[in-house]
Amino acid sequence: MRKKYGILAYPAGHSLSPVMQNAAFQAAGLEADYVLFERRPEELEGFMQEMRDGLAWGVSVSLPHKVEVMKYLDWISDEARIIGAVNTVVRTEEGKLHGYNTDWMGAQWALLDALGEKDLDARAVVILGAGGSARAVAYACLEAGADVWVKNRTRSKADGIAIDLAEHFEEEIHSVDFSDMGTGDILINTTSVWLGKESWQETLLVEYCDPEYLKSFELVMDIVYRPLITPLLEAAMDSGVPVVTGEKMLMYQGAKQFELWTGKEAPVEEMWEALKELL
Ligand code: ATR
Repeated sequence: MRKKYGILAYPAGHSLSPVMQNAAFQAAGLEADYVLFERRPEELEGFMQEMRDGLAWGVSVSLPHKVEVMKYLDWISDEARIIGAVNTVVRTEEGKLHGYNTDWMGAQWALLDALGEKDLDARAVVILGAGGSARAVAYACLEAGADVWVKNRTRSKADGIAIDLAEHFEEEIHSVDFSDMGTGDILINTTSVWLGKESWQETLLVEYCDPEYLKSFELVMDIVYRPLITPLLEAAMDSGVPVVTGEKMLMYQGAKQFELWTGKEAPVEEMWEALKELL
């Protein structure tokens, strides 16, 4: 019987995961389909029971369920607990539901891919934003040996990330004011300013989108993939600094999900080809 997987989100229609994961199943020769499980918050509990009963063998969890879903799981990985969010659920043969976070792995893999031999050890990473994505990205950097500076419009949220993660790592994590234009080796945007209603020129990000400022970084990454080349990446490219686009993190977090669900190595090339066609 074909196995079912899917994305649990609301709304789910704009997700790129179905095309990417179905391409992976096909490339790996697996009898499996990845579908949309569009569920509102009030439908979450019922869905998790259906999953336990065999509706699906695994789901990607997206907004708005990444935190709430943790209530309905039998086991949660240490990383997901520390980050405070689950983006992957695996159903075991016994009908148990296990939660993981692959966002941090996706961010780390994308960064290491771009950095090559230089890797992240002892590097200084500046992270813009302090939402759920920033937590996963900060975790990824600390886990690979980097020191982290988190800057956010709402300073208290940056303070919260620094306090929560500091106790788990020997590496340093600090929170600083968004207006502090101190530099580092790597700059990563996790804010959603490009997606907001106001023009980005009206936001705090405008100071950062300056080729002169960005020159001092070795690498600039944005986790947003629509647009693929964000104003920040455009400015970095203008100053000749290498960039990492958001779909790299999307692909690698999906590749890790595929591995957790199937126990097989992800066919990354095919996933990449499928994603590229969509963007
Ligand atoms: P995610 O889960 O993807 O991280 P989120 O939790 O909604 O999304 O976080 C969005 C991030 O973008 C936050 O850091 C937010 O800053 P605040 O904590 O101050 O709200 C940031 N952000 C959104 N719009 C912004 C803007 N116009 N200027 C600066 N930061 C902005």
